[in-house]
Amino acid sequence: MKQKVYTLKAVDSKESYPGLVYNFGAGPAMLPREVMQLARAEFLDWHGAGMSVMEMSHRSDEFMSIATQTEADFREILAIPDNYKVLFSQGGASSQFAMVPLNLLAGKKTADYFHTGLWSGKALKEAERFCKVNVITNEDNDALLSVPEAETWSLDPDAAYVYYTDNETISGVRFPAIPDVADVPLVTDMTSNLLSKPFDVSRYGVIFAGAQKNIGPPGLVIVIIREDLLGHAPKHIPSMYNYTIQAKSNSMYNTPPTYSWYISGLVLKWIKGQGGLEAMERMSHARSDSLYQAIDKSDFYNNLVDPKYRSRMNVPFTLAGDSLNEKFASEAKDHGLVALEGHRSVGGMRASMYNAMPEEGVDTLISFMQEFERTNG
Ligand SMILES: Cc1ncc(COP(=O)(O)O)c(C=O)c1O
Repeated sequence: MKQKVYTLKAVDSKESYPGLVYNFGAGPAMLPREVMQLARAEFLDWHGAGMSVMEMSHRSDEFMSIATQTEADFREILAIPDNYKVLFSQGGASSQFAMVPLNLLAGKKTADYFHTGLWSGKALKEAERFCKVNVITNEDNDALLSVPEAETWSLDPDAAYVYYTDNETISGVRFPAIPDVADVPLVTDMTSNLLSKPFDVSRYGVIFAGAQKNIGPPGLVIVIIREDLLGHAPKHIPSMYNYTIQAKSNSMYNTPPTYSWYISGLVLKWIKGQGGLEAMERMSHARSDSLYQAIDKSDFYNNLVDPKYRSRMNVPFTLAGDSLNEKFASEAKDHGLVALEGHRSVGGMRASMYNAMPEEGVDTLISFMQEFERTNG
């Protein structure tokens, strides 16, 4: 059969789709429009296979070629060393909260957890079901709006691993640098910032991320694990929760989330086409710098996070009065700026700006905020 192969190309402008909005939601999030258009072109008949990727066997040659290419691109973009396995799994990032202790304790009884926000809090609660957790946090900081300074850390010398959340999606707090924990395996949840910046993978034992923000659609969690950490899980843990079994079967122990895997592959091609992680980082700095500047120079808007720890992905902010929140969100929606409501645990507003958020989206948001301040301030 003759193959019809489409490629990523410049997007139809917003005028072709007047209803499209800028989605500032924390995830699932915007995907690059070029990717959506390519997926649409390939939707019914992928490369002449006579069917959609959604309908293919995960063991077919066609899907295997997608899976292999996606992993190769992922490895290339992040410069992942050969002694790391990459798993394309299910269960969301939350499944990793249990998988990490189940697989990494390896007979040890404690693990170190940085508590810097809601997601690391959830992870450490889950770990407490399996081991003693040594919590490292800023005691005097109830709102968890900063990261403890290195000289205050009290790491457990017997810990099986050290765990932290690189970017706390809800409070908008990010680790300013990779924590230095000597030879103890370092584990990080990068659900909300993997693929937004280059970094040294070899500093880590395990890195994981739910796909639904910078990588692709929901349903997929990607795990990068150093090979020497495999093979130590106790026999009784469920097979689906065993990294070694997942790695040995090349993430095909059961049916993987094939369509999310495929779309993530298109997103990776898009990232490469944009100039890789250096370009993603530049864009994330441009977006977040303009929004923080707009907030900081106004008396109407406020972001409470110390600039040293401010997230490049998620910018929470409050208005001069909580009573204005609903009005702000509703009028923003009328301007095509959606999902700006803050997380229910913190209130206020939050603008999440992942890789696919164009700069015009942020410019439109800032102009709207200035106008809202003028009429409501
Ligand atoms: C940092 C972080 N970790 C974990 C999760 C949980 O992800 P999932 O819904 O895939 O379990 C989220 C979700 O937003 C997150 O932002």
